[in-house]
Amino acid sequence: MASYVAAIDQGTTSSRCMIFDHSGRVVAVNQKEHRQLFPKAGWVEHDPLEIWDNVRQVCAGALASADLVSSDIAACGITNQRETTVVWDKATGKPVYNAIVWQDTRTDEIVSELGATEGQNRFQSKTGLPLATYFSGPKVKWMLDNVDGIRERAEKGELLFGNMDTWVLWNCTGGPDGGLHVTDPTNASRTLLMDLETLQWDPEICAEIGIPMSMLPEIRSSSEVYGQFRERGVFAGIPIAGILGDQQAATFGQACLSPGEAKNTYGTGNFVLLNTGTERVLSDNGLLTTVGYKIGTNDTVYCLEGSIAVTGSLVQWMRDNLGMIGSAPEIEQVARSVDDNGGAYFVPAFSGLFAPHWRSDARGAIVGLTRYVNRGHLARAVLEATAFQTREVIEAMNADSGVPLKSLKVDGGMVVNELLMQFQADILGVPVIRPVVNETTALGAAYAAGLAVGFWGSEADIRSNWAKDKQWDPSMTDEVREKQYRDWQKAVTKTFDWVE
Ligand code: G3P
Repeated sequence: MASYVAAIDQGTTSSRCMIFDHSGRVVAVNQKEHRQLFPKAGWVEHDPLEIWDNVRQVCAGALASADLVSSDIAACGITNQRETTVVWDKATGKPVYNAIVWQDTRTDEIVSELGATEGQNRFQSKTGLPLATYFSGPKVKWMLDNVDGIRERAEKGELLFGNMDTWVLWNCTGGPDGGLHVTDPTNASRTLLMDLETLQWDPEICAEIGIPMSMLPEIRSSSEVYGQFRERGVFAGIPIAGILGDQQAATFGQACLSPGEAKNTYGTGNFVLLNTGTERVLSDNGLLTTVGYKIGTNDTVYCLEGSIAVTGSLVQWMRDNLGMIGSAPEIEQVARSVDDNGGAYFVPAFSGLFAPHWRSDARGAIVGLTRYVNRGHLARAVLEATAFQTREVIEAMNADSGVPLKSLKVDGGMVVNELLMQFQADILGVPVIRPVVNETTALGAAYAAGLAVGFWGSEADIRSNWAKDKQWDPSMTDEVREKQYRDWQKAVTKTFDWVE
């Protein structure tokens, strides 16, 4: 009897394979980074073949590191950076262009044109999304319009579109030799092409944007056996039984399974998701309505989402582009060398601003500088930017739901930063809670796969596996909190109208 479940987490900066036991404990992990390609200002690409190669390597690496074989694994789930767009030739498996990453802003003009007469929210009631560069549909259109000859090939049915979940699944299940062209509703709900109610592609929107429907994958549930690994060697024969976009996977892994429960993941960007149950709440305050999960034939669960494009990647930028820190964790020590931000605020609008602003014309700014400001103050301003941006989306969530959030579950790479966690609790004015298993993204995908094959019996198992590690309580006065937040809001307005 297989004692473990695996998950492939294909993220923005790396691909990982993790193996979990029945209690949700991590027994193996293997990870490999891929190149970030920046061909022009505002453009971000990945090489899909490099990513697929890395996925194979990390699966083999995880199995070997725990001395396991395929028959020890009951099922595997896939979770992924969402929106990132791949188009490939179904006969050869060769991508027609690099993957256009979710952070890429090249579709700015396309989205402005699409919203020119009916406005940015013209597709909101069907898709839950505003028109923005973030989503996949306009990225596919950009490729069809700009890569020579591919629109014709797409119309003839020779090309396939997928987000990273679909690209990985198609390759794992045989590629050109019968690979499954499938996605789940959490990923499909990030394309601007899916109707949130029917969970099907919307023919009218596809026609408006100009995307041949033959390119689109079949939308199945987030938890069912789609097929088996066909790749020779590692994982061969293991059922692939779960697909969840990474933020929805983290929500599932954090056991936010009832309406009103929310989590915040601190990754390349930050993503706050609030479970709204079977109700699709349309936001009046700049949030997204998205599918949370659909387990087999159960009712669809929806979420409100506050997506923040740049948080952890700002720390990487400070390390790689400015050389101000030697490693990402070092930022905490540098920030602790001072007591506050010295008056400096850093608004990292590198991809424009996502929720709640949706301003693709915004670009980053550091404001409030005086000669007093030093490296420590800037390190603080970098960390505080994550917390302030989180407060903006939580305020929008409170306004949309009418019920103020009482506490926030957190996960992701930056939650080991105690200074940031305390500041987050201070600036929100509510407790911040970190679970024992911080790898909630991979765990959520493993749960989806494990539920489909009976490895876990029900969502109750997920709840009972969740345990608190640490809590930070607010300790700032209301006066200081509100003054700092007002200064942040002023700083945000300085980033608008940079791109005409
Ligand atoms: O929507 C983008 C998100 O899915 C990316 O997540 O963790 O890879 O930065 P991450």
